[in-house]
Amino acid sequence: MHPAHTPVSAYLCDVIAQKSVERILDTARIDEVVSDFVTLRKRGANLLGLCPFHTEKTPSFTVSPAKNLFKCFGCGRGGDPVKFLREHEGFSYPEALKYLAAKYQIEIEETQEQRRDDPEEILKDQLFVVNQYARDYFSRQLFESEDGKALGLSYFKERGFRESILEKFDLGFAPTGGSTLTVHAVHEGFRSEILQQAGLSTSHNRDFFRERVMFTIHGLSGKPVAFAGRILGKTAKGPKYINSPETPIYHKSNVLYGLYFARQAIRKEDNCYMVEGYTDVLSLVQGGIENVVASSGTALTPEQIRLIKRFTPNMTILFDGDAAGLNAAMRGLDLVLEQDMNVKVVVLPDGQDPDSYLSELGPEKFLHFLETERKDFILFKTSQLLQQSKNDPVARTQVIKEVVRSISRVPDPIKRGEYIKVCSQVLQVEESLLIAETNKVVATDIQKDRRDRERLERREEVTHEQGTSGTALPSPTTEKHPPQELDLVRILLTGADKMIQVGEEELTVASYILKELEEEVVQEFKSPLLRTIMLDCLDRLAKGDSLSSQVFLQHPNEDIRDLTIQFLSPDYQYSDNWEERYHIVLHTQRMPEDNFARDAQLALQRYQLHKLDHLCDMNAQRVKEAFEANDEEQYLHYLKFQQELQTLRNNVANQDLNTVVLK
Ligand code: GTP
Ligand code: MN
Repeated sequence: MHPAHTPVSAYLCDVIAQKSVERILDTARIDEVVSDFVTLRKRGANLLGLCPFHTEKTPSFTVSPAKNLFKCFGCGRGGDPVKFLREHEGFSYPEALKYLAAKYQIEIEETQEQRRDDPEEILKDQLFVVNQYARDYFSRQLFESEDGKALGLSYFKERGFRESILEKFDLGFAPTGGSTLTVHAVHEGFRSEILQQAGLSTSHNRDFFRERVMFTIHGLSGKPVAFAGRILGKTAKGPKYINSPETPIYHKSNVLYGLYFARQAIRKEDNCYMVEGYTDVLSLVQGGIENVVASSGTALTPEQIRLIKRFTPNMTILFDGDAAGLNAAMRGLDLVLEQDMNVKVVVLPDGQDPDSYLSELGPEKFLHFLETERKDFILFKTSQLLQQSKNDPVARTQVIKEVVRSISRVPDPIKRGEYIKVCSQVLQVEESLLIAETNKVVATDIQKDRRDRERLERREEVTHEQGTSGTALPSPTTEKHPPQELDLVRILLTGADKMIQVGEEELTVASYILKELEEEVVQEFKSPLLRTIMLDCLDRLAKGDSLSSQVFLQHPNEDIRDLTIQFLSPDYQYSDNWEERYHIVLHTQRMPEDNFARDAQLALQRYQLHKLDHLCDMNAQRVKEAFEANDEEQYLHYLKFQQELQTLRNNVANQDLNTVVLK
């Protein structure tokens, strides 16, 4: 619980002075910082452990004391001590610095200078401070005031919540009197405008939350960004919940209730349970299921999904049993598929919500229920809709459309292919029909995105050039690039993050290709655009960033974005006479997305052959010149080199292509 009378000044957070920052960064040792969270073993000059950021059985998380950096070769995360704390603990930059300062007993000098020139930052700080005050106030009311204990605390206890959970989640009580909080806060030195802006006081300086139990809504770093107040009992009039308004520190669509407390468990379990209500989160956490967040009764937003995605690609959504709007809710989930999340759903029995059902079953049986009842979202949706359509042929066509819509939202073509396979069985339609329908939707979407963007860009062009009419943007043609280079880049842009197995090693397509082609080789790429892309990829990999189609689709360079779209579009074709012209057998042309491993290897091989052919030609020219000049020494030298090149070429041509398999 929070101390009773914290002075306002204690909430003020100043800017850490630069020289303190430097001292902290100089002092912090990566091995010491990481060891507080991860068990490390010595391995040569480095330390090795199980990565805390993803699930793994064999350790690929490396800590280098010499470089003062950590790096996971499994998930690609890496960085310095501050980065580790930000990722692992969800700290902000100053929070990580303060943590380190405390750990190493470094005194922090703070200045307020920098803040003075940014009114937006000042306002945010003030809002945090006043919210911290309100959080502590509500909490004191709940545990210490007569009304709070009699009305609030007894209510929570009746619902089965223990004090530890009430304290952990900063629950509280807003008193009955009309303006108790406002009066106290003003007395403490808070201006009434700031109380109003935070949504704690009304424009008439009355308390916004009155006679309600209070839920503190935390930001990702644990600071109180907003509040929700629930009416007591069932009889009282007024809405069941009221929430703080949107403020500079609270954007509803960016916040998930409970995420601050859940993030480590989400990472550890590699799954996030999604429920609707505040009390559902409390119940599950109290029952030991800590990887849970609430959408707070509204439809999920892309921002919220991206928040979860920072911790796991897997999410399990719990639907209330009486969900009348199950179909509508399922439609909303296409959004989640779009973000390349794996979505499972669990439907609770009629009339139950997670809170009530957990109380009925107890945590153990409840968890067992979740684990046995969860179904893949697309399959669930398919069978659900099919059931509803009851063999009505018109309705069935509609079902197929709906299912195809969901499948086409899945960005990963391999996953799409798997869904198509299973759904064609469930729906009893030809797989080829589903493939064709899905491809249509995917292609239309891509074209639509493109048109939207072009329209937008044209509009910008017009405004920038003050009236000169914008012409359609030339689309980058793939014709002008050397095909061997283009093919390598195509595989990178479409499959960079696909995992493949090369011999003993498991790695991404991107790291496989870029490991084989070193920077000097890439520098020799003839096409400037393709060279730029390869060098950019090398850079990003070196920095430990991960690569995926998503990255290229959002790339600041428009040509790269366009090229990626072109490759990803299902009607992408190699130019017609590719095979004859370049003697390349396109084993994989029909479903390139299913064959990243083989494709990557073939493309590398073609590129190497192409380069070797070129070298052979050049060298043959030298042989000829030396022969004509009667320079026997040079002639023999080049001839020997020619033989070596030929051997190399043969070796490359006969490479065993079965050593690389798709995971
Ligand atoms: P309890 O009834 O206390 O168990 O709460 P609950 O969280 O189970 O509530 P319910 O299932 O009725 O609603 C789920 C979520 O929808 C809540 O947690 C709120 O986030 C939101 N919600 C419900 N009613 C209201 C309301 O009247 N106003 C607002 N703004 N949100 C609401
Ligand atoms: Mn409930």
